[in-house]
Amino acid sequence: MRRSWAEPYKIKMVEPIRMTTPEERATAITAAGYNTFLLRAEDVYIDLLTDSGTSAMSDRQWSAMMLGDEAYAGSRSFYRLVDAVQEVYGYEELVPTHQGRGAEHILSQILIGEGDVVPGNMYFTTTRFHQEHAGGRFVDVIVDEAHDPESLFPFKGNVDLDKLQRVIDEVGADRIPYISVETNVNMAGGQPLSLENLKATYELCHRHDILVMLDATRALENAWFIKQREYGYADHSVAEILREICSYTDGATMSSKKDNLVNIGGFLALRDPELARKARALLVAFEGLHTYGGMSGRDMEALAAGIHEMVSTDDHVAARIGQVEYLGNALIKAGIPLIRPVGGHGIFIDAMAVLPHIPQDQFPAQALTAALYKESGVRGMERGIVSAGRDPKTGDHHYPKLELVRLAIPRRVYTQAHMDVVAESVVEVFENREAVRGLRFTYEPDELRFFQARFEEV
Ligand code: F0G
Repeated sequence: MRRSWAEPYKIKMVEPIRMTTPEERATAITAAGYNTFLLRAEDVYIDLLTDSGTSAMSDRQWSAMMLGDEAYAGSRSFYRLVDAVQEVYGYEELVPTHQGRGAEHILSQILIGEGDVVPGNMYFTTTRFHQEHAGGRFVDVIVDEAHDPESLFPFKGNVDLDKLQRVIDEVGADRIPYISVETNVNMAGGQPLSLENLKATYELCHRHDILVMLDATRALENAWFIKQREYGYADHSVAEILREICSYTDGATMSSKKDNLVNIGGFLALRDPELARKARALLVAFEGLHTYGGMSGRDMEALAAGIHEMVSTDDHVAARIGQVEYLGNALIKAGIPLIRPVGGHGIFIDAMAVLPHIPQDQFPAQALTAALYKESGVRGMERGIVSAGRDPKTGDHHYPKLELVRLAIPRRVYTQAHMDVVAESVVEVFENREAVRGLRFTYEPDELRFFQARFEEV
C-alpha cells in the first residue's frame, strides 16, 4: 500500500505567531505603502515573503554553531565549509560571502568588462543588477515555455540553445565572458532545467571558450525534479544528481539561505585557481577576509552542517517539495490560475489572469499581494513589473510576460494546516477580485525598486 509522505523530522521548539484583526492589517498595509517588504514581521500571520534565510535549522546545525571557531584568519570552521562544498558540490575553490549577492558582485567584477553580454536563463533581480553594475548587458535565453504560465513543459528552466547561438553569432564569443545558468529558475516560478540541456549548454559554450557559471541557489530542488522527470535518473540519489549538475559548470554562485538551510551565508565556488585568486583579492575589500567572507565561524559551521544534511537522504527534499505541491494542488483544485507545473520553492499566482481589469502599468501583482495580506495576514511577494524594474537605456519599465504573486514556502517552518489556511485565504481574495484596485508609485527607488517602493491606490 502506498502511504502519504510526512516530514522526516519532529518539532522540538516552537515560535508563537499571532493572527491580526482586519483593522490592524488595513492600517499596516497603508503604512507600508502597499509593499509587503515594508511590513513589520509581527504584523504578519503566515510569512511567505521568501524562502530565503527563513529555514528552520536542525538540532545538529544548532549544536554545530557551538563549535564555531571565531578566529579572524584560518578558522577551523572555514575548512569544514571547504570540505562540505568539495564533497557535495565538487568545486575545488571556495570563496565565502555573506550571501548570494555578495558572490554575484565578486563574480561580475572579475569577469565582466564594459560592453560585455551575459546570457542567462531568465534574469534574477540581484544577479542582473551586478551584471549591469559591472558594465555588462543581460540577454534572456530561456526557452519560450518559461514565459507561458499554462505550458506543462517539465523543464521550463532550460536554456534555448538556438537563442544562445544567436547571441554568440551577433555579439561574438569574445564579448561573452560567461553564461549565467540558474537552477530551478526563481522568476519562472521555480522551474527546473534538465541535465541533458545543461550538458548541451556546457558543450556549446566550451566550443566558444565561454564559461558556464551556475546559480546553484536551488540546485538541490532542481536535482529532485530531474530525479522525477528526466529519463534515466529515477534511481539516482539527489546527491549524485547534484554533483552531476555541477560537473557541467565552471563555477557557481550560491545563496546558502535557500537549499543550504541556514539563515545567512553564501559562496562563490570555482574550478580555476587563477580566477579564485582574483576573486579573493576583491573579497577582502567588499566582504571580508578570504577565510570568512562576511560569515562568523558559527555561521560557517551551521552552513557546513546544512550542506551535508540537505543531501543525507532524499527524504528532506521530497518533503520540502511535497509541501509546495500540496498547496499548489489545493489552489489548482479551487481554480486559481497559477504557474504550472508547480515549482520547487513556492506557488506563483498569475496576477494578470486574476485581475484582467488592472493594466500591467498599474502593477496587478503588487495590488494582489497587498490584497492577500489585507484579507488574511498571509504575506507574499510581487514578482512582476515592479521587480523587473526599468531598462537602464530607455528608462521605460521592463514589461515581463509573467506578472506573478509569489508565495514562497520556508523550509521546515510551516505545517500542512498552515498550507490549508493559505489556500483558503487565496480563494477568498480570488472570489472578491473585482474589488482590487490598481496602484501607482508614490516613491520609486532607482535600483532594485521593489524592495523599498511605495504605492497608493489609483
Ligand atoms: N539567485 C537567486 C536565484 C535567488 O533567488 C537569490 C535570492 C539570489 C541569487 C540572491 O541571494 O538573497 O542571498 O543575496 N533570492 C531571494 C528570494 C531574495 O526571495 O527569492 P541573496
